[in-house]
Amino acid sequence: MTANRGYIPPTRRPDALGVHSVDHFALVVPDLAVAKDFYLKFGLDVREDGEELSLYTFGHPHRWGRVVEGPAKKLHHVSFGAFEDDMPRFAEHLQRLGVERIDAPTGFGSNGIWFRDPDGSLREIRAAVKSSTNHKAEFSVPICGDGARGTVSREEAPTVRPRRFSHMLTYVGSAQKAITFYSDVLGLKLADAAGDDVAFMHAIHGSDHHILAFATGGGPGLHHSSWDMGGIEQIGLGAMHMADSGYARGWGLGRHVLGSNYFHYIRDPWGSYAEYSADIDYIPVTQDWEAKTWAPHNAFYLWGPTPPDDFVTNYEAA
Ligand SMILES: [Fe+2]
Repeated sequence: MTANRGYIPPTRRPDALGVHSVDHFALVVPDLAVAKDFYLKFGLDVREDGEELSLYTFGHPHRWGRVVEGPAKKLHHVSFGAFEDDMPRFAEHLQRLGVERIDAPTGFGSNGIWFRDPDGSLREIRAAVKSSTNHKAEFSVPICGDGARGTVSREEAPTVRPRRFSHMLTYVGSAQKAITFYSDVLGLKLADAAGDDVAFMHAIHGSDHHILAFATGGGPGLHHSSWDMGGIEQIGLGAMHMADSGYARGWGLGRHVLGSNYFHYIRDPWGSYAEYSADIDYIPVTQDWEAKTWAPHNAFYLWGPTPPDDFVTNYEAA
């Protein structure tokens, strides 16, 4: 059989209304210099833009994160990307659902649609290039042949860097309410849930198994942002570099059940995490993924060390 070399897989589900990406997240932190050090060491391309930091990954044009200074660490907002011609439909859709449209917050002016989620958290839908990936991320395992050295010395260890943002886990007042709201309003779909209090949402136009996840946690907050790496070796090297740089706390190496990704979480200076992730499941635009609800003990991680006692503690709510 001859392969159809001209075939370009679709990157959009026709007619269905839904955001395609987490366009970016914005954090408030008490000291920008501390944030800059953490994210630089983590391997991001951190740029100073006036009074704020912009988080990029090297070699990728998209701005994944914004960090501004304020009294205490807080997830300021999450902005979702939508196809430009869907924006009028989203405006009508939110109005029909009775979701109040609000002004853009000071310092974050844009022509997107701003509103609040059930916890009162700021959210935006904006016209944007689809920054979520259109295919399963490449994953490699170096194999050493006969008669060769498989690795280099510690001193020769390469610098590793995330390739792109993958997803974020946010604390919410109620994961069940969040599933309903983000499905109805933003068109995200449930990929999997662990009990009543943890849920993973994917985008309908092709995305990682989750671009946004919820954990019931006494109110809003950031649990972690997650960044795609090329393999387990890169995760290990990144975590080692972070430990050598003073960021030894975290959790990993391990493998999740829901999403199947290999992980190592690095604890950030504010008690939340940045995750090195590799080989996360991918839900193509052409597939209707069957969501399941799993028993939490059976779904948290397939293997890995015991998580820290406070791994799921919402320090923003405290
Ligand atoms: Fe994650």
